[in-house]
Amino acid sequence: MSSRSSLACLSLAVVVAACGGERAPAGDAAPPPAGGAPAAAALTPFQQEHGIGPVTAEVTLGAFDHELAEEGQELFATKCSACHKLGERYVGPALGDVLQRRTPTYVLNMMLNPQEMYEKHPVAKQLLAEYLSFMPNQGLTQEQARAVVEYLRPEGQQVD
Ligand code: HEC
Repeated sequence: MSSRSSLACLSLAVVVAACGGERAPAGDAAPPPAGGAPAAAALTPFQQEHGIGPVTAEVTLGAFDHELAEEGQELFATKCSACHKLGERYVGPALGDVLQRRTPTYVLNMMLNPQEMYEKHPVAKQLLAEYLSFMPNQGLTQEQARAVVEYLRPEGQQVD
C-alpha cells in the first residue's frame, strides 16, 4: 500500500471513530436552551406525561381488540423479545406491567422514537443509565406500535 493510500485509510478511520463518538448518549444532541435552563424544563407537560415523539395527542384504550392484540403478539415476538420479556427484567425492563407505570401514549412514543426519548426524557434517560443499553428504533409504523400496546394490555397477554 502506498503511503498516500494508508494515510487516506487512517484519516477515514479517524472520521469513523469521531462519528461513532458523536452518537454517545451524553445528551449532546440537546444543547441546553439559551439562558441555561435545564433540558427537562424544555419538555411540555404533555411530553413529560406521554413522551416525545410522533404521537402528540393522547391515545386512550377502548374496548379490548383481540385481533389487534394477536398482531401485536407476533410483532412483539419478532421485534421486541430479543430484549424484553413480560414478567422479568432482561436486556430491557419487563413490559408485562408497563401500562401500569406509563401511559399508552408514552409507550407508543418510546417504541416509535426511542433515541430522542432516552436523550431528552428524564424517565427514559434514567432507564438508560440503569440498563446501560440503547433501545433501537424497530421501524414500526404507528399502527404496528398500537398493536403491540394492545398485546401489552393485561387481556392481550392472555391471547394465544
Ligand atoms: C436491542 C434491545 C431492545 C429491543 C429490540 C427493544 N427494546 Fe425496548 N428497551 C431496551 C432497553 C435497553 C430499554 C431501557 C433503556 C433505554 O431506554 O434505552 C428499553 C426500554 C423500553 C421501554 C420503556 C419501559 C419503561 O418502563 O419506561 C418500552 C416501553 C420498550 N422498551 C418497549 C419496546 C418494544 C415494544 C419493543 C419492540 C417493538 C422494544 N422495546 C424493542 C431494549 C430494547
